[in-house]
Amino acid sequence: MIRDVLRMGDPRLLARSREVERFDSPEIAALLADMLDTMRAQNGAGLAAPQIGVDLRVVIFGVERNPRYPDVDPVPYTEIINPVITPLSDAMEEGWEGCLSVPGLRGVVPRHARIHYRGLDPRGRVIDREVEGFHARVVQHECDHLDGILYPMRVRDFSRFGFTDVLFPGTDVPDE
Ligand code: NI
Repeated sequence: MIRDVLRMGDPRLLARSREVERFDSPEIAALLADMLDTMRAQNGAGLAAPQIGVDLRVVIFGVERNPRYPDVDPVPYTEIINPVITPLSDAMEEGWEGCLSVPGLRGVVPRHARIHYRGLDPRGRVIDREVEGFHARVVQHECDHLDGILYPMRVRDFSRFGFTDVLFPGTDVPDE
């Protein structure tokens, strides 16, 4: 079921979400199904449970290869519970981000270039990956939602923060 996405200003987006204790449950399965329906309906690259008003540490993300965005590497569709990120170096990388909770806007955000992340899939199997580039960016963005952080809070250069259709006229860049 497609759910409403909370927008910036809603205090539920600023809370630290709770660890999932029983992940192999019908509630979590239903939550993940709703998150996928909602992300697909909005053409998003990722979604975190608090964005649909559920304060649990659950995120999904994934980007297919898209000829319109040839410089964006595909990211495998992933459902991850209780994710934990560890940066693998101090190197930071800047890149444009958007967010379904901040519709119509884009900003340049510094993120760790290389990270390790670990968590559980819905069947309790460990997900353990080292990633870089866009994949690392998407994971950091989504996991920030679990700690009540929205990407505009990480923008440092506000000359590179604005409305998508003004920044990138003539393109149909989706919200993220
Ligand atoms: Ni977001």
